[in-house]
Amino acid sequence: MKEINVAIVGYGVVGNGVAKILDTQKELLKQKSGLNINLKKVFTRSWNKVFPHPIDENRKAKNLEEILEDKDIHIVVELTGGIDFPFYLVMESINKNKHIVTANKALLAEKGKDIFLKAEEKNIRVGFEAAVAGGIPIIKALREGLVANEIKKIYGILNGTTNYILTSMYKEGKTFYQALKEAQEKGYAEADPTLDINGTDAAHKISILSSLSFGGFLDFSHVYVEGIEKIDILDIDLGRELGYTLKLLAIAKSHNDEVEIRVHPTFLPSDHPLSKVDGVFNAVMVEGDNVGETMFYGRGAGSLPTASAVVSDIVSIAKSISLGIGNEIEITSMNWKHKELNLTKAKDFYTRYYIRFTVPDITGILAKIASVFAKYSISIAAVIQKEKVLKLQKSLSEKVVPLVILTHTASENNIQSAIKEIIENHYTVEDPVIIRVEDEET
Ligand code: HSE
Repeated sequence: MKEINVAIVGYGVVGNGVAKILDTQKELLKQKSGLNINLKKVFTRSWNKVFPHPIDENRKAKNLEEILEDKDIHIVVELTGGIDFPFYLVMESINKNKHIVTANKALLAEKGKDIFLKAEEKNIRVGFEAAVAGGIPIIKALREGLVANEIKKIYGILNGTTNYILTSMYKEGKTFYQALKEAQEKGYAEADPTLDINGTDAAHKISILSSLSFGGFLDFSHVYVEGIEKIDILDIDLGRELGYTLKLLAIAKSHNDEVEIRVHPTFLPSDHPLSKVDGVFNAVMVEGDNVGETMFYGRGAGSLPTASAVVSDIVSIAKSISLGIGNEIEITSMNWKHKELNLTKAKDFYTRYYIRFTVPDITGILAKIASVFAKYSISIAAVIQKEKVLKLQKSLSEKVVPLVILTHTASENNIQSAIKEIIENHYTVEDPVIIRVEDEET
């Protein structure tokens, strides 16, 4: 039976999970794959720590060269953080003819083009199932299960930290900061959750899914991203009254020769399946021309769920090695490597909007705002004006009230022009809160 040797670089939460599965479920993996998959070496700079899955001395690499120069190591599993070091490690490993498995979405979203072109040149496979939605096998679903489809739309909840926070705000009435603190205390949020909260993590993931779904690389710096840091519980409550639930949604839609990619807080109808995805769970909806709508749900983070995805890549690459087929499988399913996706500009987005103004409670203000909307051809679908909202009025004068307008589908450009005019005319005493809505109409 063929023996495949694996090395792990980076021994954190996910690394420990991968080592645990490879060491304790060797027999199961052998039965399922017909291969002996060995964890030969692990490298970390922090061997002085106590690990949930300890590594015996003879498998501890003292330096990277011990792994890179070992011709018997077939697969390098990159589980470090950041971009610069993992990029160096992955490129060096490819140069040394080692196949790669990585869970690093930032690395792939920002340096994927260089990595995949290099891998193609060297006939090396790069597995990245764990980079998007942790344990949910969405990469294999797009590459294999849905291969018979032209993908029209892919959208979902791709970040567990923000979903946990928004769920606590919606269900328990917590403020953003109370919910974030609770997520950190429970170990769901990173010590520095900046990239989760500001939407970058979800944007990295939807960029990877977009490349696979629509066939091309993209310039990550042009992806539209908004986080949840400014979300006020008041908007969650007002949205609920209108029949909507707030989620940090990552959305990618194909329009002829353009792809629209955006990540932002989004109101979804409360009976939409994604509105029921609570806490740290992730879910992805994919719409294909033949299959219609499909939904994938599961744990998007955590040691063993993420390790489950990493090991699936290890087994898949181990099988290719034993069959002697290098990355030919990837070349056929990723023959878009030389294309660039054309991203829709934010001003050309076309969707529905929830807009909350803070207006003086005086005669005619609603009519004035409505007339600005009419001027820019924005059709109003619903209006809520609250006579009294105590939470809001604490910091403001007695005589202001929130006025919420829900629009029909409108262009972002027109919305921004209307808002600018409303602010300039002092019809609102604070900058309005704008939240996009995704429903049947859009
Ligand atoms: N920090 C991510 C999340 C998990 O909160 O979903 C890793 O991608």
